[in-house]
Amino acid sequence: MTTVLADQVAIVTGGGRGIGKAIALRLARDGADVGVMDIDGETAEATAKEIRRMDRRALAAAVDVSDYDSVRHGIAELAAGLGRLDILINNAGVEKRAPFLEIDPADWRRQLDVNLSGTFYCTQLAAREMAKRKYGRVINISSVAGLIGPIDLAAYGAAKAGIVGLTRAASLDLADYGITVNAIAPGPIETELMLGVWTAEALRERPQHGAIARFGTVDEIAHAVVFLASPESGFITGITLPVEGGASAAGAYMVEKYRRRRAAQS
Ligand SMILES: NC(=O)c1ccc[n+]([C@@H]2O[C@H](COP(=O)([O-])OP(=O)(O)OC[C@H]3O[C@@H](n4cnc5c(N)ncnc54)[C@H](O)[C@@H]3O)[C@@H](O)[C@H]2O)c1
Repeated sequence: MTTVLADQVAIVTGGGRGIGKAIALRLARDGADVGVMDIDGETAEATAKEIRRMDRRALAAAVDVSDYDSVRHGIAELAAGLGRLDILINNAGVEKRAPFLEIDPADWRRQLDVNLSGTFYCTQLAAREMAKRKYGRVINISSVAGLIGPIDLAAYGAAKAGIVGLTRAASLDLADYGITVNAIAPGPIETELMLGVWTAEALRERPQHGAIARFGTVDEIAHAVVFLASPESGFITGITLPVEGGASAAGAYMVEKYRRRRAAQS
């Protein structure tokens, strides 16, 4: 069993399901004790319970990452309960599709509040804790939608692009405290978020839109998180690592790749 993260303590936001849950379980498998935060306290507790069955310590907290006081209480409670804080994974996110001309300002604000402000609140409060020991790893979950222009996702795309900028800015300031800050930009990963937001047709077509013609898995994102969270990754900071099957590599050439793929299928 690998224990690259032995004796470390991690907090994962949105750890109740999907990618966040897979990350929390993987960090535990690799030796970390884990604080699971989610707006849904019950699912957070269910993930924590699974981790305790792996003989790691785990605590859960019901936290809305878009609420600064909620984050302050949650991080203080988990860091005190687990004794320290080495790793923060900013994974909690929401996505709502709408054509640009029809975006409701309340939906715009919610997506910015949860995805971008939530990442800032958690990072600032966790980094104050990490700075005490002059060591930390912050990993933000952005999206391929933050790297290229997504359709019907202006608020989500803006928030996820904001995370790329926040990652760079925070990496400069926090380097002085031994803290690295990096991001991962997943492509389409099969989770409840994706199944809830996409049409059946999009679910059929979307895997064809990358160099690697399939959806990614939650475990492939968790694998990249462990790489960036590991103590050996101390010379990597401020980057956004795409884990998206080559979705952004081809750019406009993807149209031709897609055409050939369809022709080969017919
Ligand atoms: N699934 C994909 O294809 C995909 C692609 C790129 C990026 N992402 C990003 O990965 C992250 C996880 O996505 P997922 O597919 O697992 O989503 P999901 O909806 O399955 O899980 C998200 C989790 O975050 C929690 N959450 C939502 N709002 C919250 C808040 N305000 N405070 C605390 N917790 C909150 C939810 O309760 C849920 O447990 C998100 O940031 C998402 O934008 C997902």
